[in-house]
Amino acid sequence: MNATVNLLLLLLPLFFTTTVQSSPKPSFSNSPPHFLKQNSINETIEIPLQHYFEVTLPLPTDGITPACSTSLLLNHSFENTTGSLSTSSNSPVIRVMDYTPPPATCDWSVAVLDFRVECKGEQHGGGVAGVWIDGVELLRTSTARPDENGSFWNVRKDVSRYSSIITRSNLTLSVMLENLVNDEFTGVYHVNISLLFYSDTSSVRFPLSIVSGESKPRSQSLNRKLISVNNNHEIESKLLDRDLVLKSLYPYYKPADLVVPISASGGLSEGFWHRIEDEFDVKTKNVQISNKTYKAVLELYVSFHGNDEFWYLNPSDSYVETNNLTTGRAHGAYREVLVTIDGKLVGAVVPFPVIFTGGINPLFWEPVVSIGAFNLPSYDIDLTPFLGLLLDNKNHSIGIQIADGISFWLVDANLHLWLDHSEVQAQTTKSEIPSMEIQRKSEFIRLDGEFEIEGERESEVTGWVHSSTGSLQTQITEKIKFKNKIKFKDAGTTKELQQKYKRKTKIKITNENDEVIESLQVKIKYPLKVSIGTKPGSDADTSVMITIVEQERSERVYGDNDSMVLSHKQNCTGLMVVKGSSVLSGSAENHQSYSYNDGVGCYSQSVDVVDGDVVGGDTSSICES
Ligand SMILES: *[C@@H]1O[C@H](CO)[C@@H](O)[C@H](O)[C@H]1NC(C)=O
Ligand SMILES: *[C@@H]1O[C@H](CO)[C@@H](O)[C@H](O)[C@H]1NC(C)=O
Ligand SMILES: *[C@@H]1O[C@H](CO)[C@@H](O)[C@H](O)[C@H]1NC(C)=O
Ligand SMILES: *[C@@H]1O[C@H](CO)[C@@H](O)[C@H](O)[C@H]1NC(C)=O
Ligand SMILES: *[C@@H]1O[C@H](CO)[C@@H](O)[C@H](O)[C@H]1NC(C)=O
Ligand SMILES: *[C@@H]1O[C@H](CO)[C@@H](O)[C@H](O)[C@H]1NC(C)=O
Ligand SMILES: *[C@@H]1O[C@H](CO)[C@@H](O)[C@H](O)[C@H]1NC(C)=O
Ligand SMILES: *[C@@H]1O[C@H](CO)[C@@H](O)[C@H](O)[C@H]1NC(C)=O
Ligand SMILES: *[C@@H]1O[C@H](CO)[C@@H](O)[C@H](O)[C@H]1NC(C)=O
Ligand SMILES: *[C@@H]1O[C@H](CO)[C@@H](O)[C@H](O)[C@H]1NC(C)=O
Ligand SMILES: *[C@@H]1O[C@H](CO)[C@@H](O)[C@H](O)[C@H]1NC(C)=O
Repeated sequence: MNATVNLLLLLLPLFFTTTVQSSPKPSFSNSPPHFLKQNSINETIEIPLQHYFEVTLPLPTDGITPACSTSLLLNHSFENTTGSLSTSSNSPVIRVMDYTPPPATCDWSVAVLDFRVECKGEQHGGGVAGVWIDGVELLRTSTARPDENGSFWNVRKDVSRYSSIITRSNLTLSVMLENLVNDEFTGVYHVNISLLFYSDTSSVRFPLSIVSGESKPRSQSLNRKLISVNNNHEIESKLLDRDLVLKSLYPYYKPADLVVPISASGGLSEGFWHRIEDEFDVKTKNVQISNKTYKAVLELYVSFHGNDEFWYLNPSDSYVETNNLTTGRAHGAYREVLVTIDGKLVGAVVPFPVIFTGGINPLFWEPVVSIGAFNLPSYDIDLTPFLGLLLDNKNHSIGIQIADGISFWLVDANLHLWLDHSEVQAQTTKSEIPSMEIQRKSEFIRLDGEFEIEGERESEVTGWVHSSTGSLQTQITEKIKFKNKIKFKDAGTTKELQQKYKRKTKIKITNENDEVIESLQVKIKYPLKVSIGTKPGSDADTSVMITIVEQERSERVYGDNDSMVLSHKQNCTGLMVVKGSSVLSGSAENHQSYSYNDGVGCYSQSVDVVDGDVVGGDTSSICES
């Protein structure tokens, strides 16, 4: 192969990018930004829609009749919204309406957001969507590609932690769902959104994640039931004490009294997420919090797009410059969401690398989507030790930025505040959060090379809160390790990634006598391996891509007497023949396993998908051993 051919292969759209696109970047005319699987749709034939799904823990309320429900959006059609995220055009991107809380007569303790989408027609897939009430984000999700017969999916999320806002009236609900409609892409998303409210019921099934007794916004709480199998193979169940299940709920043991949006002001026209364009782009919001606040948690919602959609695969700038490449996907492969108060770093998060349904190989994500694609994880930063900075009845600027970020990220946050009956005093006694210590290696000759980034941080924050429950000290210590290694081989046509991220957080609450009231350890691991090989195809202008993704989301919480262990893994291998922006043919497998155990109950699920068909899998709610 001559160098020109190699260069073209390297610049081929290795991914289905999302339909979210930044302003057009110069690129080779033969490297369009999107792939597309050719579908032949016959609208006149009625065929059942393909049901897409994400493997996840079922909600305890699934299958139970809600005490009441409110419809937020009924059969709304989202058409052609892409323009506004990528340009400043005024296309209708967002649906805004009045929010009506559940009737006062409805007795409830658990609220579930139910999000349903139907789509038929040609789509890029992987558009991002968000749901907000008065700028407080309730759900970040993304869209699946419809297959030839159309598609359907349903996301259900426990939103009880937003009780304080869900119960208020005179608010606005906004939904943004990105879509692009033109001659080639004709799909329209029909969306129904409702809130389902559940009251106490003895028929609740395992596993249940919520709610504590005193916390419940109204009425009684749901009790958790343990289901196990006895020696006679009979299924037994018993109700559990709420104290036994608290740890899995950290830090939302009970819903906050107030949730303050740290979101964009132009939300009603462009969505409440901040669009962050580069590492210097700091989005700030001034907030003055009540001096009755005894606990504060910042919940971050994050997604990455454009040249940073696959930030973990981005080589160094010098590689791109030296090889005269026109791609904007560079700036190395370390990214972190940084949170500041008055310019001072108070928390940092390396987000879980969620791959949208168009990503790497779209054939992987039919009909099971990637980990987190339908319900993107949010990230909690416990700001309780910083109340000493915040409780002075003054405005403080909360800032969000992306370390090393390039265009573009969609980020916002909810500030959850728990209030005492009377004024609270607080001091921040220790606050040591250094920036990540980073080492980078970049070695390459022409298009082949290796890029390595290693980062580490150890931090400690401590603060006192004197409230009506007494004086309590919260100490949070954290260790973070990040490692990213990318190899480019065969004149840049093979890319291999190995990324590791580990975070260990210890939270210790002590009283004035230095007695430990509560201690918790949270351990998070997000390993990711990706391999993409590109070769010329047998027909002119085609290429063959061999793709592998191996990924895990592992989150564990250990208390003194209990624990919660969650692990969700996926292994995907596949091949596709690509011409221009289209996938002509291919074959793909996706194997996922999910396991959850919180010491009192378990859930496990496995799914095996080959070429779009679920060929195997298992589900169990029974704890092994
Ligand atoms: C769609 O299906 C109907 C019924 O089978 C058939 O009559 C029609 O020709 C088909 N249209 C296309 C465009 O294939
Ligand atoms: C939903 O909307 C679609 C397109 O706007 C329409 O064809 C369909 O009849 C609607 N369904 C209901 C139940 O309103
Ligand atoms: C969709 O929006 C894009 C960008 O604003 C525009 O170019 C295109 O014509 C629109 N398509 C339709 C069908 O309205
Ligand atoms: C939305 O609700 C309408 C009316 O109940 C129903 O006809 C339609 O199929 C629903 N669409 C989705 C995506 O659930
Ligand atoms: C679409 O529906 C037809 C008819 O039921 C079926 O033969 C075909 O396999 C379906 N396509 C997919 C991708 O499921
Ligand atoms: C609703 O909100 C508007 C604007 O914020 C305010 O002017 C109005 O008084 C509010 N109405 C009620 C009933 O709270
Ligand atoms: C605090 O911030 C809010 C919102 O930005 C602003 O309206 C208010 O004037 C500020 N107050 C002070 C005392 O700076
Ligand atoms: C606490 O906040 C209230 C309400 O804003 C205010 O009236 C009071 O003066 C504040 N207390 C102190 C000690 O600043
Ligand atoms: C990049 O462009 C410069 C200036 O045009 C040229 O000297 C250099 O050889 C080019 N490098 C490669 C790897 O093509
Ligand atoms: C853990 O269990 C022991 C013994 O039952 C009990 O004394 C202790 O209070 C428990 N600790 C917590 C934090 O619940
Ligand atoms: C993925 O592959 C690894 C080894 O390559 C294996 O240990 C793991 O069990 C696999 N996971 C799934 C969900 O198939």
